[in-house]
Amino acid sequence: MRYIWLDCDPGHDDATTIMLALNCSDVELIGVSTVHGNASAHHTLSNAARCLVAFGAPDTVKVYPGATQPLIRPARHDPEIHGVDGLGGVEHLPSATDPRVKSASTHPGGVIRAIEGIAQAIRQRWNGGSGTQITLIATGPLTNIALFTSVYPELLAGIDELIFMGGGVGLGNRSSSAEFNILCDPEAAQIALNAPIRKTMVPLNVTHTAIVTKALQARLLDPDTPPTHLDEPLPKATTTLRHMLSTLISFFADTYESTFGFDQGPPLHDALTIAYAAHPEIFSCRRFRVDVELSGSHTAGETVVDMWNYRQCDDSWGSNGKNCLVAESLKVDTFFEFFFECVARCDAI
Ligand code: BDR
Ligand code: CA
Repeated sequence: MRYIWLDCDPGHDDATTIMLALNCSDVELIGVSTVHGNASAHHTLSNAARCLVAFGAPDTVKVYPGATQPLIRPARHDPEIHGVDGLGGVEHLPSATDPRVKSASTHPGGVIRAIEGIAQAIRQRWNGGSGTQITLIATGPLTNIALFTSVYPELLAGIDELIFMGGGVGLGNRSSSAEFNILCDPEAAQIALNAPIRKTMVPLNVTHTAIVTKALQARLLDPDTPPTHLDEPLPKATTTLRHMLSTLISFFADTYESTFGFDQGPPLHDALTIAYAAHPEIFSCRRFRVDVELSGSHTAGETVVDMWNYRQCDDSWGSNGKNCLVAESLKVDTFFEFFFECVARCDAI
């Protein structure tokens, strides 16, 4: 069992990540923090709380508000992909004013409680070395993670791994060379990458293989009788949860098609982090030095992967070492079996 703290910016794929984290039998979600990113920090906070309620979180799992802006750059959001409130088009989610949603959030927004929440979770579980480490998963800009590693270096031993969705190897999506999460706060990403803890980066090169195709969209709606031909109309949702997830995926599919021309379906980027935490054997990874371009006029936010070890880095995870495992491929079919198992478990609640 891995104990997971999720730092996120929901966001459609972040929402599916929360669903997986709550309904996967190999991990236990112990807390959530939110960060600026796909939408304003105000929206990502309430979206995370809405998802906790929708996907069956126990009362003990709460959302902690985090950074409202990057360390030194102005905040940027992505309404083109996620809608203005970060979860555009998703039907049947509880509203931000629902009392259950309000009580899923520890504190009102505007105060950075995320890093205190992470610190408290580590103190409780790790207990100075006699307990269990936690796994930190980040699916948004790395501002909270950079702040946490800077403010609480003495607690880093209580983290077994930082798994983050972000970056690309020669590939960008929000500039010709930068991926959105890293581009939002490149300085924070570099600080997180220098932290002396094991890290795994799940980059665009791999997330772009986890496409929710039309056939998978049909299976989501009705797992027992999806259409046999893809030109048949989609089946009707068999449950409210399936309808909710289906509206989530179709909005994401539409924006990916209109923005990037993806016509097969949207990539489920962030969800891969939970699959990695639960089943690392379905990924192949190699360990490299990874840094972030902070000043390039065309390349700011690019993840620079030193494949040939030009920097002659050692085997530490910190600022002089091969600091990061980089996911290079995924058994896509196995990933989607895992995804649908978690959907079925969530549906049974
Ligand atoms: C990342 O950016 C956001 O659009 C997604 O939520 C994901 O975390 C992909 O580049
Ligand atoms: Ca995200």
